[in-house]
Amino acid sequence: MGMRVVEGDITRLHVDVIVNAANNALAGGGGVDGAIHRAAGPHLPQACRNLGRCDTGDVKATPGFELSANAIYHTVGPVWQGGMSQEPELLASCYRKSLELAARQGFQSIAFPAISCGVYGYPADQAVTVAVTTVQIFLEENANIDVIFCCFARDMAELYRDAIQTMEKHNH
Ligand code: APR
Repeated sequence: MGMRVVEGDITRLHVDVIVNAANNALAGGGGVDGAIHRAAGPHLPQACRNLGRCDTGDVKATPGFELSANAIYHTVGPVWQGGMSQEPELLASCYRKSLELAARQGFQSIAFPAISCGVYGYPADQAVTVAVTTVQIFLEENANIDVIFCCFARDMAELYRDAIQTMEKHNH
């Protein structure tokens, strides 16, 4: 339990929930969204269409289909516009709402990609701070879920490890 960092492809993880960094139309895309759509197979697009749109900072769930995960949570991170357009609040909301939904649905493990850190341009160091802080606050109240930060790149994984270490130091 708690949070940890894994390097690699999120679609390969054996967790209850895989979080997708989607767009408002839930229309699929490149990056992690494309990888999840390819791995989940042909039924995911229709399931997404049935959900309609998703607001930035919100989350909607589909089954995992051909993934080993039970569910895919499609959340929409903010597009970075300089940091004064509620980006931190909206990004925190993606993490918090995903965690709340996972707890409500009784899931015990959830893996997040680095939401907004690719095409959406959120500075990675700032996004990592938001992610780790938001998860930490959630875990203080809900200890029984395993949270995995899945990073494609080693330098991103290093940022998460540093942020988790810094936070743990402050808590002791
Ligand atoms: N597993 C884990 N992480 C991945 C994978 C993968 N298979 N593929 C990409 N990533 C990482 C990227 O390296 C980046 O750090 O996910 C992070 C998020 O990048 P994006 O996928 O570009 O997501 P985001 O910045 O939130 O942009 C969302 O991109 O694909 C479109 O439809 C999507 O319009 C939406 C936008």
